[in-house]
Amino acid sequence: MSDGADRVDAVSAPGYFISFEGGDGVGKSTQSRLLGQWLGELTGREVVLTREPGGTELGKELRAAVLHGQDMDPRTEALIYAADRAHHVASLVRPALERGAIVVTDRYLDSSVAYQAGGRELGADEVELISRWAVQDLMPDVTILLDLDPAAASARIRRQHDRLERAGAEFHRRTREAFLARAAADPDRWVVLDATASIDDLQAQIRVDVAARLELTPVVEEAEDTVAAEPDDGFDDTDSAIGYTPGLGFGPGGAAGPTTGSGAA
Ligand SMILES: Nc1ncnc2c1ncn2[C@@H]1O[C@H](COP(=O)(O)OP(=O)(O)OP(=O)(O)O)[C@@H](O)[C@H]1O
Ligand SMILES: [Mg+2]
Repeated sequence: MSDGADRVDAVSAPGYFISFEGGDGVGKSTQSRLLGQWLGELTGREVVLTREPGGTELGKELRAAVLHGQDMDPRTEALIYAADRAHHVASLVRPALERGAIVVTDRYLDSSVAYQAGGRELGADEVELISRWAVQDLMPDVTILLDLDPAAASARIRRQHDRLERAGAEFHRRTREAFLARAAADPDRWVVLDATASIDDLQAQIRVDVAARLELTPVVEEAEDTVAAEPDDGFDDTDSAIGYTPGLGFGPGGAAGPTTGSGAA
């Protein structure tokens, strides 16, 4: 990987906001973690790796309620996601961006809109409106869609499936189509990748795209060659209450540790 001499100066923008989207099991957590580590090492900038739902302490409670709690009507569900997102943005994402950090989130509001379209219970427009209100229109600079057939993605999930993951093949097919339609409607923001590729190939493609957007051009070629098989860093992706550290940050050199001042404590 890069040493100090290869480092590229931070770009002038105060912060940079990257989201990963796609269905369950497509590789969002894997790819967002690898990208976050790489960006921290390469740029020396603060990188905040987070997720929705459940990127904050309050969010973990809301995540448990929506994914593992009792069945609920669609409006309740939409409002819980929106509440999680409002708190996530207000307490963690926006302050980090204002500090100049690169924020990488595993899901954001496009998930709410696409999953609602999958369920066809509420209008996608209504759900987008609630979400946009919740975050005061903060949108990612780039959104990476990992596109994969839901059956193939489901086969990758070894743990017990949560309430939404059990929702059925037709639901997941419509959700996938909704993600693709949103991406097609806003190609400047979205990068659509075929997630049947290997972990390393996907990460290389993502690094090339993000490096170009962040004007890290000297390292674009390097990005394609440096995707190492990264060891398990103990970053547990299960839904257990202790399995996730909100606002996990990667500082210069890639050392993982709690991000100070992230507002998530
Ligand atoms: N490109 C890939 N090829 C094969 N297996 C993969 C690939 N990417 C991820 N995996 C594996 O698939 C499983 C799911 O990956 P991961 O947890 O990153 O997906 P996810 O999109 O975050 O899932 P979830 O929606 O459940 O949070 C993991 O065991 C991971 O190692
Ligand atoms: Mg995940």
